[in-house]
Amino acid sequence: MTLYADTPKTLSITDLRAMKQTGEKITSLTAYDASFSALLDLTGIEVILVGDSLGMVVQGHNSTLPVAIRDMVYHCRCVTSARKRAFVVADMPFASYAAPQQAMSNAARLMQAGGAQMVKLEGAKIDVIEFLVDQGIPVCGHLGLLPQSVNRIGGYKVQGREPAQAQQILKDALAIERAGAGLLVLECVPAMLAAEITQNLTIPVIGIGAGPACDGQVLVLYDMLNITVGNHPRFSKNFMAEADSIEDAVKRYHRAVKNGQFPATEHTY
Ligand code: KIV
Repeated sequence: MTLYADTPKTLSITDLRAMKQTGEKITSLTAYDASFSALLDLTGIEVILVGDSLGMVVQGHNSTLPVAIRDMVYHCRCVTSARKRAFVVADMPFASYAAPQQAMSNAARLMQAGGAQMVKLEGAKIDVIEFLVDQGIPVCGHLGLLPQSVNRIGGYKVQGREPAQAQQILKDALAIERAGAGLLVLECVPAMLAAEITQNLTIPVIGIGAGPACDGQVLVLYDMLNITVGNHPRFSKNFMAEADSIEDAVKRYHRAVKNGQFPATEHTY
């Protein structure tokens, strides 16, 4: 007899890989606190992302750049304290992973104090990914639109429309997998490019504004609940529109991703 025998098993990267192999879509949403974490968990969301989007939707900044590692650790702890089953990925905030050693000590804080199972970092930082993986830190890559590079890119724009840029994103995705990453988030890229990357990678690819062919989908929770004031990204959908509660909206999202109804053509580039 085991203690806590009726406690649901926390999902692992092996479970997510198995879902890619069987073709079952992976559902993911962001969360930043215990209440939403518990609700997403109960609804069956497999991956909770403690995104640095909290800089915009929780802290009120106009980008993710001001988010500090201590903010991420705090919100990550709030989320992991309340979920039982979901796999939790935490974002490495801006300027927290410029060099391998710095990345290592910040990732360790997210895992030890925050309880994260994996850390996510933006861009093809191959040397950093290799170093983290070598130290036993699971890594999720993030390609396409990189919100931490908004000032370099000049806005939140679709990436990979030009053939040369699309080829570079595919090359970077393959390099991130070779470096040992366990997951990849693809943000705001044409659906055809995302489909090609998803087919060519053995690790699960989770899309946001990347079309229906990805192995899973993620959205910023406040966007899909229509809480966010101002412009809503084209790739998101207001799941509250037909729902009678927040729980119902999350269930509708979960169902729509699982049966391939979301994202539809109007959410896709
Ligand atoms: O911070 C975040 O919410 C993210 C998603 C947009 C993927 O990285």
